[in-house]
Amino acid sequence: MVVSVLLGSMPDSPSSCRCFTMRVLVTGGAGYIGSHTAKELHQAGHEVVVLDNLYRGNEWAVRWGPLERCDIRDRQSLRLALARYDIQAVMHFAALAYVGESMSIPSDYYDVNVGGTLQLLQAACAAGIRHIVFSSTCATYGSPDHLPITEDTPQLPVNPYGETKLTAERMLRWFSSAYGMRYVSLRYFNAAGADPDGEIGESHTPETHVIPRLLFSARDPKASFQVFGNDFPTPDGTAVRDYVHVTDLARAHLLALTYLAHGGDSTAVNLGTGSGTSVKELLRTAELVTGRSILVEWCPRRAGDPAALVASSQKATSVLNWTPRLSTPETILRTAWAWHSREHATPGRSSTTCAPLPEPALAPQAAAVEVRK
Ligand SMILES: NC(=O)c1ccc[n+]([C@@H]2O[C@H](COP(=O)([O-])OP(=O)(O)OC[C@H]3O[C@@H](n4cnc5c(N)ncnc54)[C@H](O)[C@@H]3O)[C@@H](O)[C@H]2O)c1
Repeated sequence: MVVSVLLGSMPDSPSSCRCFTMRVLVTGGAGYIGSHTAKELHQAGHEVVVLDNLYRGNEWAVRWGPLERCDIRDRQSLRLALARYDIQAVMHFAALAYVGESMSIPSDYYDVNVGGTLQLLQAACAAGIRHIVFSSTCATYGSPDHLPITEDTPQLPVNPYGETKLTAERMLRWFSSAYGMRYVSLRYFNAAGADPDGEIGESHTPETHVIPRLLFSARDPKASFQVFGNDFPTPDGTAVRDYVHVTDLARAHLLALTYLAHGGDSTAVNLGTGSGTSVKELLRTAELVTGRSILVEWCPRRAGDPAALVASSQKATSVLNWTPRLSTPETILRTAWAWHSREHATPGRSSTTCAPLPEPALAPQAAAVEVRK
């Protein structure tokens, strides 16, 4: 059993989170945000167990604890894993997380994001686990009329991805009131960037996210970067999104765990920066950071694509004591470029490909490629 002693005030840095340690199950810990959070937890003295079926994750990204190769829909295996490692808290990242894909295969999204979350919560309840940190998303808000988006903005998702994440949030609320577990739902805006130490980064196959695709285009002068829409009602006409550095997101998970361990009530918190960046601004910064020019293919807007999505981070600051530290476009691109350059200098380590994007019509929430989730 890991010692669990709660002392002191809320920490504002990972190193000051050492006032207690826990053994934490990180579902989806072989994925992008889960692996960065596993590192953050490990550095703060927690013990990490990763549970992932590797459907979209990378085994090489599991470096800070053992990997249980298991599907979250498999309740029996979940129960065995929770018992074997004497898990005390769960961070639940495992999910299908592409807006466009969710429009064409909603059944899979309900199966994993709702059905899998139900199995996980049931297994966690049976194991007596009381603390859950859940990866939610700005996609639960849909296309709000007013910015910045606060936690009180109505949640009106416009695609199956956002709908299934909202259903999971609601499931957590009822489990919390009936069974006494406490949770923090973290509603991320656009995760971006890479571990500043260069150990891990963003690597999906195929890659649909805006920063890696920009960097692929920077590396290959013939590979154009598609921008969807230059006639939005924004200062430069391209879509505006709120990009948060993945290490800032990881630190928010640590702070959420600390909040729960100190007796904090169940809650939901936006993780954004309060300021937006347009696709053109990202493009300019990518050219500056890489020193290369990027070939652009201007494409029409995608149906249902909001002009701007920006979060208020006030609640994250007041409840979790979280403020973003690395979430500027320049730091995001510098860390991502450093990692991508290293990856491609070591062929075979990651198998990321940059295949053609899916049909735009399937992705009503995407701005320039899949820029938000
Ligand atoms: N990336 C973003 O910008 C963003 C924004 C908002 C919310 N989120 C949420 O954050 C979480 C992590 O996102 P990510 O970008 O790291 O995605 P990711 O695809 O890199 O990671 C998801 C991980 O879950 C695993 N997984 C999927 N289905 C599983 C199953 N049935 N059983 C076990 N493991 C399974 C995958 O193999 C993968 O390793 C997701 O829940 C996503 O909805 C992401």
